[in-house]
Amino acid sequence: MKFGSVIVLVCTLAVPLAGGQAGQQQRPPLAEEVFTNVQILRGIPIDEFMDTMGFFAAATGMNCTECHTNDADTSWAHYAADSPLKNTSRRMMRMVTAINRDHFGGRRGVTCFTCHAGTQRPKVDPSLAIQYGEPVDDPNEFQATGQDPAAPILDKYIQALGGAARLAGVTSFTAKGTYMGYDTYRQKVPLDIYAQAPGRFATVAHEVGPSKADNVKVYDGRNGWFASRDKPLPVWPLTGGNLEGAKLEATLFFPAQIKQAFTQWRTGVTAIGDRDVQVVQGTNAGQPPVKLYFDEESGLLVRSVRYSESPIGRVPTQIDYSDYRDVAGVKMPFKWTVTWTGNQTFIELSEIRPNVPIDAARFARPAQ
Ligand code: HEC
Ligand code: HEC
Repeated sequence: MKFGSVIVLVCTLAVPLAGGQAGQQQRPPLAEEVFTNVQILRGIPIDEFMDTMGFFAAATGMNCTECHTNDADTSWAHYAADSPLKNTSRRMMRMVTAINRDHFGGRRGVTCFTCHAGTQRPKVDPSLAIQYGEPVDDPNEFQATGQDPAAPILDKYIQALGGAARLAGVTSFTAKGTYMGYDTYRQKVPLDIYAQAPGRFATVAHEVGPSKADNVKVYDGRNGWFASRDKPLPVWPLTGGNLEGAKLEATLFFPAQIKQAFTQWRTGVTAIGDRDVQVVQGTNAGQPPVKLYFDEESGLLVRSVRYSESPIGRVPTQIDYSDYRDVAGVKMPFKWTVTWTGNQTFIELSEIRPNVPIDAARFARPAQ
């Protein structure tokens, strides 16, 4: 039945631009054009639809097959089958819309997470263990409200990386390493990265999943795509917060321009584990804020947190950077952990080769 989705792909990708987003050459295919049984979450692109599924999983503590059917993960078509929990979820979506409309003036006062908080059945009785236990601080929830300028923190970061002059000397790189996530059944598979300043990159994880597909993510400076022949749509455009996220990743590959990335900045201080961090929160008009966490001592970037919008709530993506090593006089992170509601992936690089020529075709829309 994957065949079915391929047919839909052929039809929908022929749809010309109909007043779509800037930067998108074609209107992205919508959930109801690719999937067969979408009753509520209609009119949104595929990446946003999948973010919504990740939000469901994060809010209810259920994985994809628990809420769908046991065999859902063996074929995308199986996800169309209705299950009692799926039907309850539809009822819950209508309930949340009504609560927000009737009690919060249409503002998103309540989401699935408000009641479920990561559990299938919301708690009813107060918990003395929570009331008297140690409060757990989540650094991702920290809101930087400080008016102190961000520039000194960003300057210290540029300095810690090797200084503006050395950064300007690295205009491209290729990297090799490994990739691991739920989609590889937690096995390490080979990874290639191609990056070209300013702001273009392609990452290719090889031999992912049952059909040993290449998982490709590309950002060409304006548009981005995710491609894998294992997905319900073999190539899907990145939209909204996912496209902004790819742009941020591209900026962080060549961070000399970091100060130009946002128009408004806030600052603050918190901790990740036992390390003190300075937080710089950058915002662009109409976008959710992005938080950058810099180690107080080394000045290096240790985490970024950003959000994508979905119809039922904002979905966070956290990237943790570590194992900074010297490449042509510039410090680069050799380890990243990317955590979002859909997956947690581990990237470990073994080599980075600076200033090598890269074929421009690497940054074109993937052809899978
Ligand atoms: C708590 C329940 C829940 C969880 C968890 C969940 N889903 Fe869903 N899923 C739904 C509901 C409800 C719909 C139908 C949405 C609608 O009708 O608008 C749906 C629809 C889908 C569809 C469309 C199927 C079709 O052809 O119509 C796909 C694909 C899908 N889910 C994949 C996933 C994946 C992958 C995960 C894990 C990341 C997941 N879902 C997690 C509830 C869930
Ligand atoms: C106002 C609080 C509240 C919100 C918001 C809420 N739920 Fe629920 N949900 C409940 C309660 C209460 C139950 C019933 C639990 C029970 O039967 O013990 C429930 C049950 C469920 C169940 C069935 C669990 C089971 O094992 O039978 C699913 C699935 C579910 N909710 C999904 C969602 C989703 C998805 C959202 C967001 C669209 C959501 N809920 C938002 C309160 C909420």
